[in-house]
Amino acid sequence: MTMTNAPRPASVHVTGWGRYVPAQVLTNADLERMVDTSDEWIVSRTGIRQRRVAAADETTASMAAVASLRAIRTAGIEPDDIDLILLATLTPDYWMPSTAALVKEAIGNTRAAAMDVAAACSGFVYAYATAQAYIASGLARHVLVIGAELLTRFLDYTDRSTCILFGDGAGAVVLSASDEPGGGLGIEMTTEPSGAYMIWLPAGGAKSPPSAETIARGEHYIRMEGKETYRFATRTLATTALESIRRSGLDPSDIDLFIPHQANIRIIEAVAKGLDLPMERMFVNLDKYGNTSAASVPIALAEAVNSGRVAIGDRIVIVAFGAGFTSGAVTIQWTADPARGIAGDAAVSAEDVHVRLPVDWDSVDPIPDALAAIMAQPGPVDVPLDEVVPGEPAPAHSEVPA
Ligand code: ACO
Repeated sequence: MTMTNAPRPASVHVTGWGRYVPAQVLTNADLERMVDTSDEWIVSRTGIRQRRVAAADETTASMAAVASLRAIRTAGIEPDDIDLILLATLTPDYWMPSTAALVKEAIGNTRAAAMDVAAACSGFVYAYATAQAYIASGLARHVLVIGAELLTRFLDYTDRSTCILFGDGAGAVVLSASDEPGGGLGIEMTTEPSGAYMIWLPAGGAKSPPSAETIARGEHYIRMEGKETYRFATRTLATTALESIRRSGLDPSDIDLFIPHQANIRIIEAVAKGLDLPMERMFVNLDKYGNTSAASVPIALAEAVNSGRVAIGDRIVIVAFGAGFTSGAVTIQWTADPARGIAGDAAVSAEDVHVRLPVDWDSVDPIPDALAAIMAQPGPVDVPLDEVVPGEPAPAHSEVPA
């Protein structure tokens, strides 16, 4: 990063946004063939109908790079205009280097500092807040903030209480210095270590390095106490959002749209009730993607804007909770032309983006066996209506894309 001590800007605005989700769809019906569960149970307890699964040649970095280039095109800047790259993830490609470093190379940036942010599902909001601080202090002018996850490679497909919840994807925003009013307003972040072992991945770190024994015990998979997490989420999402709104000098009724972490529809309904607001003020797309952890808020933000749910001047709140326990919220007055997002998405195709692989390294097949077996025998899936090209007749059923 070469910029230091630039003048402090008046405000920090979202100027670009983009998303990428893999093509492969895993439905509740597919999961019924793997574990003792039902579509009815999953939909009524979570609201999730399907999730996306990264292909063998996709990684957290590759999905992040596509979403990032789309956000950069939407912002109308060049990759080299980015001073700092912050990538929130709990599923990095490697322990080291950072996934952000791989993304920097893949997007063709030569000058940014790049680092990962570890705050689980709150990671994107934490990274957003960090970017806002860098820009507000004059240390950076354009920051690329990414949330990207490849969770389907860290799930125990014999544990029905976790494997139904998560999916893969990436979202990104460009935050830029501005002298115009609006942009990011109040920020609130909390960390409650009493919940440290409520959602965790026991082995692979310094406390419990990977070994045949840790693998035999399945300690390389995500574990979760669902009820405790649910309780924390419903209590904290509303209070964290409220504090961010209060710091912005506003009331919840002043907020046009909440973009909450997409973990569970019942959690989002509880937040709406807690804030005494109708569900129309809550953006929801978890039915399509499940919980994509740090990617969920930026994917939802990009879809909310591109689908016409956000207008210039609107006040929105991004709010998340996750392992740690952590929570974070930012209130934002929207200033960018929403129409730019669709053109930005269309300008970048996933096939055009490449993450450099290590030399002389034969990686193992990354897809878990149970998942590979189900994906090899696809069941019928319903094509979501909003993903059908306008004017094209929608088939009642189609095969899962290979
Ligand atoms: N299908 C069918 N039955 C199931 C399933 C399933 N997939 N999963 C659990 N059950 C069973 C349980 O075994 C239990 O059966 P029992 O009563 O015979 O013991 C019963 O359903 C009820 O289980 P609960 O855990 O009480 O179900 P609950 O209503 O709490 O829903 C859920 C579980 C969906 C996981 C909920 O607790 C939840 O959403 N928690 C929050 C999780 C979350 O958001 N995590 C993400 C955190 S973000 C991050 O940082 C990663």
